[in-house]
Amino acid sequence: MPLASHDVFTAPDWWRQAVVYQIYPRSFADVNGDGIGDLKGITSRVPYLQELGVDAVWLSPFYPSALADGGYDVDDYRDVDPRIGTLDDFDEMVATLHAAHIKVVVDIVPNHSSDRHEWFKAAVAAGKGSPERDRYIFRDGKGEDGQLPPTALRSIFGGDAWHRVTEPDGSPGQWYLHLFAKEQPDFNWDHPDVHADFLATLRFWSDRGVDGFRVDVAHGLKKNLDRPFDAMIRVDDGVVDAGDGQHPLWDRDEVQDIYAEWRTVFNEYDPPRTAVAEAWVQPHRQARYSSPAGLGQTFNFDLLRADFSADDFHEVIDRNLKAAAEVGGSTTWVFSNHDVVRHATRYGLPPVPARAGAPGAGEAGRGNDGKQWLLEGGDPAEVDAERGLRRARAATLFMLALPGSAYLYQGEELGLQEAGQIPDAARQDPAFFRNREIEIGRDGCRVPLPWTREGSSFGFGPDGAHLPQPSWYADYAVDVESADPASTLNLYRRALALRHELECAEALEWWEVSTSVLGFARPNGWCAVTNFGTDPIPLPEGEVLLASGQLAAGELPGETTVWLRR
Ligand code: NOJ
Ligand code: CA
Repeated sequence: MPLASHDVFTAPDWWRQAVVYQIYPRSFADVNGDGIGDLKGITSRVPYLQELGVDAVWLSPFYPSALADGGYDVDDYRDVDPRIGTLDDFDEMVATLHAAHIKVVVDIVPNHSSDRHEWFKAAVAAGKGSPERDRYIFRDGKGEDGQLPPTALRSIFGGDAWHRVTEPDGSPGQWYLHLFAKEQPDFNWDHPDVHADFLATLRFWSDRGVDGFRVDVAHGLKKNLDRPFDAMIRVDDGVVDAGDGQHPLWDRDEVQDIYAEWRTVFNEYDPPRTAVAEAWVQPHRQARYSSPAGLGQTFNFDLLRADFSADDFHEVIDRNLKAAAEVGGSTTWVFSNHDVVRHATRYGLPPVPARAGAPGAGEAGRGNDGKQWLLEGGDPAEVDAERGLRRARAATLFMLALPGSAYLYQGEELGLQEAGQIPDAARQDPAFFRNREIEIGRDGCRVPLPWTREGSSFGFGPDGAHLPQPSWYADYAVDVESADPASTLNLYRRALALRHELECAEALEWWEVSTSVLGFARPNGWCAVTNFGTDPIPLPEGEVLLASGQLAAGELPGETTVWLRR
């Protein structure tokens, strides 16, 4: 069990209660002035990360890519995009982070490569029936001339999940599967080459000092496409059966065999490399990914999907702590990432009717239900930014006192709102272009960070930013917030410093559970209490350590969290 004196950096179980800060490299800091964040930019900001007090950074993909999906379309898994840097820059970045006692986690994208990957180019060039095609999922089309897709499967980004290639002789040919954009062909994980190549990639980065991996679409690698499914893509379509008692695409049992293989590679290193699964699966299946024989940890998106409500938080936390304890894993908490509307904005959106069956849709659907958190940036005119931020600060401070590890997304420490109003012409996300009737896409949370109130692109870089930054970004700049003791940045800094001091065994005991208030105590007397309601309540007894907002005498105001020592 980790104890207060335990050095997070050197302990092999460093990940169990780590604070991991997600960097979206293209939008973090740009040193060479091309408007795109780079690895040197990350290196230059290591003092900032150190002062913030994070234990690890997780880098979204920085590999060579045409950026059809923000870098999740990888051309080469063992190199750096020249627009972002070089392998030498990577080594320098890792060394600088490690010198600051910050671990490094990189994103691994095993479900699909990009269509510019050398294997995919070879597959198209080699033609039907070739061994090269067998590393991906090619099928003949239906209809007289094979002109119709093999099945009616839809891509997660909208449109068909099959794309037709032109054969080497110029004739219209076979179709390949892409669950995401058409530039992201799915690998065939029944092929030994695919297995071997990913093991080589894990070793390549581990040898360069990477401490862990974030596994993209970890639940999707194995497929059974024998039956012609219609339009089915959703993880929660649990009723769909491939004829073998399992869902044809998601969370199939065999996927764990891959991770058992990966685990042997992780354990070749000292300390063993770690992994966290991005697995959008039914809650009762999450533990499979967090077993020590597999990846070891899973993102738990339940808090992200939950309403700002005591009932929802209580249920989610209880369930996840139990599930993690059953497999001996530690749980994870996350409110924001590069795929969802920032939580300071979600919590400020007006109520919407809950979408029936939406994951986490609360009764009133208070702006955080399935539709709002992912599909819509929200009309900025309708966002109550002040309230959103108040609730986000309260929710985050509550979360940071929980056992388990906390994943933060760049900019949330500034209380950044979603940059909802991006002109169509400036948007980049394929989800916007393929699915525009229903999705605004994810660009609004990927806008480059504001570092300074003045200057080009608010200090992001010397010459502009690849996505337009709104003028109100100035108020959230790092220099502005550093100078303001009540800023969100200073709240995060104090919270992370205290969290290290107070680190203790991974347990909690509830001592207040009502419809509007939640309070728990950790084994060493560290307590967190959140008033989810809007009216003040009497301040619980104890030494006040930190609060997410201004405390009134003897009162805990609405939508506020306090940390106490009792
Ligand atoms: C999940 C990633 O977080 C997301 O950004 C990406 O679009 C898909 N996986 C496909 O790789
Ligand atoms: Ca750059």
